[in-house]
Amino acid sequence: MPEEKPMTRLNRIEACVFDAYGTLFDVAAAARNLQHRLGGQWQALAEIWRNKQLQYTWLRGLAGHHADFWQVTGDALDFALATLALEDPDLRDELMALYLRLGHYPEVPETLRTLKARGLRLAILSNGSPRMLAAAVDNAGLGDVFDAVLSVEEVGVFKPHPSVYQLAVDRLGVSAERICFLSSNGWDAYSAKAFGLSVLWCNRFGQAPERIPATPDGEIATLAELPGLLD
Ligand code: LAC
Repeated sequence: MPEEKPMTRLNRIEACVFDAYGTLFDVAAAARNLQHRLGGQWQALAEIWRNKQLQYTWLRGLAGHHADFWQVTGDALDFALATLALEDPDLRDELMALYLRLGHYPEVPETLRTLKARGLRLAILSNGSPRMLAAAVDNAGLGDVFDAVLSVEEVGVFKPHPSVYQLAVDRLGVSAERICFLSSNGWDAYSAKAFGLSVLWCNRFGQAPERIPATPDGEIATLAELPGLLD
């Protein structure tokens, strides 16, 4: 029998802070919604688009060439469409429009409402621009649950720059270890832990552990596990 990992419980958490894309909102949904146009290439498009989008955030961060996530997302889409020989301005416009109304993962609304009813403060901390995050939250009908929707645009640099994680501490007025940060992006979860937040990695996609500092406090498969892990 495989060895069962002990459940990690977190004490004295006052706020839960969520990554947006891939954690609350389904990043593959835009390409999946256009399956009828993209045929068998929709998954390749979704993967190249997402990977390139993240690479561009890191490259721009290192080079000191910040541009907001809307531009980076569009640039990455252009790269993905060119790679797959799918360049078509209408298709591009449709995919970008769909990116503003990505669906949420199924367990998200109930989990957030359970946490809120327990008195926890809830926030988003994301690379997304304020306009992108407002559209996603509104589309998911989650406008009433968040105490703060925090965009990296406030600090002008993408994750995993420490000033991004500091933004959650400053804006919520809660100490780092009393914030539980949740991300499905392993690199984001590890980096938030290295900064000093309490972290659960929502490893939706069954990814291998990262080889960067530092290991999150625990790993869950979906956010539905979260309320049961907070004392
Ligand atoms: C975000 C990206 C990392 O929402 O998913 O910040």
